Amino acid sequence: MTNPLDVFRDGALAGHVAVVTGGGTGICKGIAAAFARFGCEVCITSRKQDVLDATAAELKAATGRDVLAIAADVRDPDAMVGVVEAAKARFGKVDTLVNGAAGNFLAPAIGLSPNAFRTVIDIDLVGSFHAARAAFPALRDAGDGLIINITATLHYHGTPLQLHASAAKAGVDAMTRNLAVEWAGAGVRVVSIAPGPIAETEGMKRLAPGDAAKQARKAVPLGRFGSIDEIAASAVYMRSAAAAYITGTVLVVDGGNATLGAMMMMP
Ligand code: NAP
Ligand code: COA
Repeated sequence: MTNPLDVFRDGALAGHVAVVTGGGTGICKGIAAAFARFGCEVCITSRKQDVLDATAAELKAATGRDVLAIAADVRDPDAMVGVVEAAKARFGKVDTLVNGAAGNFLAPAIGLSPNAFRTVIDIDLVGSFHAARAAFPALRDAGDGLIINITATLHYHGTPLQLHASAAKAGVDAMTRNLAVEWAGAGVRVVSIAPGPIAETEGMKRLAPGDAAKQARKAVPLGRFGSIDEIAASAVYMRSAAAAYITGTVLVVDGGNATLGAMMMMP
């Protein structure tokens, strides 16, 4: 299969500067790597400095590009301001934010403590707001600003064991639409990319462990899990000039999973 990233030309994202939350691992590491490959300056952030440093070193070896790695918790609004300021100080501007930091686990609604529910809402939804709010002045000042919120398709149906994450991602998609409208005048586009089941990620390890992965695959009309590079390719597209007229949109990248309407698994 052709690597989806090979369709883009070298330098396609030259001149852009992105902050990627959750960029040390998984899907957002893939987005950070693709952005760097196509000429974008990148700052990755999450809670674990050692993980970020290892990813930055890997991306430097792969692309020759110095990636800024700053530990911060998206639940801390001041820390998010600090990350944006540090990226701006290093690269001169920030014109792109990828909100990928998230937490999830399988749990029945009745088994969620108030703190468990709040924790996922705080990371996914409130954390995305903190990062967007922190980035807005830089995105506006840079011109051609863009926020990509990484959401999901859980909330399109009543997905069992996923009340917390469904509520959080529904809120993030709502934020995408509201900010797209409010910030269009400031030259900032806001979109969501909603992955379906993506192979070799922490998310799939947690949501479809062991045999559940076989079941989950049956719920994908295209017959396979997606790849991290397929989500990264959608992010490169959204950052490219080809998507300049797109805002407020949720791009679902899921092999038809949500269209089928099948649940990934029953409890
Ligand atoms: P992942 O590798 O675990 O990515 C989540 C990232 O968020 C980690 O790098 C984690 O790093 C960071 N993070 C967690 N809590 C944080 C906090 N409080 N502050 C800052 N960073 C925090 O999982 P993934 O599966 O690649 O998921 C990436 C994104 O895709 C998520 O938004 C997820 O909801 C979405 N998604 C994934 C799938 C899938 O199939 N995997 C499907 C649909 C949507 P630290 O632990 O270092 O903080
Ligand atoms: N089932 C039910 N409740 C759970 C749970 C589970 N599997 N895992 C954690 N919780 C609860 C905890 O018990 C706690 O509630 P309590 O204080 O009432 O006991 C609450 O959630 C917060 O847990 P804690 O471990 O203190 O939070 P944290 O901020 O350190 O970590 C998580 C956040 C729980 C989301 C953690 O799994 C994480 O860091 N995830 C990041 C990676 C990830 O989830 N990747 C997949 C992205 S799709």
